[in-house]
Amino acid sequence: MYYLGISYGWHDPAVCLLKENKIIAICEEERLIRFKHAHLQVPINAIKFCLKKANISLRDIDKIGINWSSYEVLKHFNKPSIKKLPGSLFFFRDISRRKKKLQSILKLYFGFSPQIIEIPHHITHFYSSFPFSGFNKALSITIDGEGEKTATCIFSNKEKLYEFFIPNSLGLFYGRVTEWLGFKFADGEGKTMGLAPYGSNPELLKDKYSYANGKYWVEPKIYEYLEKTFGPRRTGEIKQVHKDIALSAQTALEEIMLHLVEHYQEITGYKNLCLAGGVALNCKMNGVLLESGLIKDIFIQPLANDAGCAIGAAAYLATQDGYKFKKLEHVYYGPEYSDEEIEHVLKEAKVKYEKISDPAGYAAELIAKGKIVGWFQGRMECGPRALGNRSILADPRNPKTVDIINYYVKHREPWRPFCPSLLDRAKKRYMKKPYDAPFMILAFNTTEKAHEEIPAVLHRADKTMRPQTVTRKANPLYYRLIREFEKLTDIPVVLNTSFNVAGEPIVCSPKDALGTFFKCGMDSLIMGNYLVRK
Ligand SMILES: [Fe+2]
Repeated sequence: MYYLGISYGWHDPAVCLLKENKIIAICEEERLIRFKHAHLQVPINAIKFCLKKANISLRDIDKIGINWSSYEVLKHFNKPSIKKLPGSLFFFRDISRRKKKLQSILKLYFGFSPQIIEIPHHITHFYSSFPFSGFNKALSITIDGEGEKTATCIFSNKEKLYEFFIPNSLGLFYGRVTEWLGFKFADGEGKTMGLAPYGSNPELLKDKYSYANGKYWVEPKIYEYLEKTFGPRRTGEIKQVHKDIALSAQTALEEIMLHLVEHYQEITGYKNLCLAGGVALNCKMNGVLLESGLIKDIFIQPLANDAGCAIGAAAYLATQDGYKFKKLEHVYYGPEYSDEEIEHVLKEAKVKYEKISDPAGYAAELIAKGKIVGWFQGRMECGPRALGNRSILADPRNPKTVDIINYYVKHREPWRPFCPSLLDRAKKRYMKKPYDAPFMILAFNTTEKAHEEIPAVLHRADKTMRPQTVTRKANPLYYRLIREFEKLTDIPVVLNTSFNVAGEPIVCSPKDALGTFFKCGMDSLIMGNYLVRK
């Protein structure tokens, strides 16, 4: 049985192909069309990639699911048909047309119109998380800007306990604050989170939200409130008020989530927590939940944004047929390129290159010498974090690395932090709460040793870090690279940032990688067994 999950309709369209309970391929459309978040795109290229990976055609797919449900829309507006919805409800009318729209587009590309099953948005977020958590029992929270109307949904195992509807949405609240801070909605929320530790007044928005008895409320017109009270949206320099508002929004999010977890944990009795939905990309919040002591174990779908709905849609259909999933150990499910393909691209570009026999050892040596290295290997990781197959790597020991990469390589704001990839066994050395964190989606407080040894991968203001703990099993080649770096330096850590420049998606193909390498200040590029220097 083949199951195809398709997430599309707004941002981060993606596709996931399952064969029974086995993930065959996952890919975000943005990587293939080179348009970050691929807003409003139908993921035709990602569908083609997934089918090619399994060597099948669309007709071989047994069930196709999408991450929106017209039934959910009509339920909320109490109308028997889409046609009865007024034009002013454009967004909702559009949701209820997505299935038909996709069917006609698929007909255009594949010659026939397949059956498509509509699945409520938050159900697809949920099925991207709990079934892949490895937990038998858990409390789950899905949390984003909005689904059909749901913004936050609470589950006890597979049973829905409670849901919050827009405009009472933490995702919209945080997103609108992000917008007022001068960043992009549904894109710059990570910048708000990164800015927050520079703030000093967490109370500025205190009366704009409340929580009690397993409920919460946030000011739906937060943007208008900020404009009226603190002036127009930021276009120039970041002032203290912006830092304070970022901190206040972050504090609101953390307090409300702590409250929800505490309340629903009392009801369910579960100490395991699963999260999904765009807000769960907030690694600071996730870290606060884990370190609160309320939770024993946490699983966060690394594709917490709507791209993950593709996994959830496919997993929902497979679960209906009785399949169960193993814990998600990695997300290297994207395209890969052979050495022949890589060499062809290098030759075509008339680039000087050399073949090397030990790319991991070579990369470690370059990094130890202070070089910034583009690292391109194996199947591309999906999700917003580079996890060692499409990464830019550097020395974590030198605090100046942060400014160099922000300025010369990533072309982004100087205060943005970088993250470490560390050998699994180094957790105790650097993390106050040693914990498996394979997906860079949890922030942790750090030890004195971390402050001394790896300053370039800690947030400058609060000394937290968002690590990727690397096991030999999940990524043997990357593990070896870090191990080789340790042999040279005694430090089992490298700085790992995604292989892209600001405003672009992570590179996918050798051609993307080569282009990015030459338009920024990286020193060397290692792709497969080939080395390119500047
Ligand atoms: Fe969502």
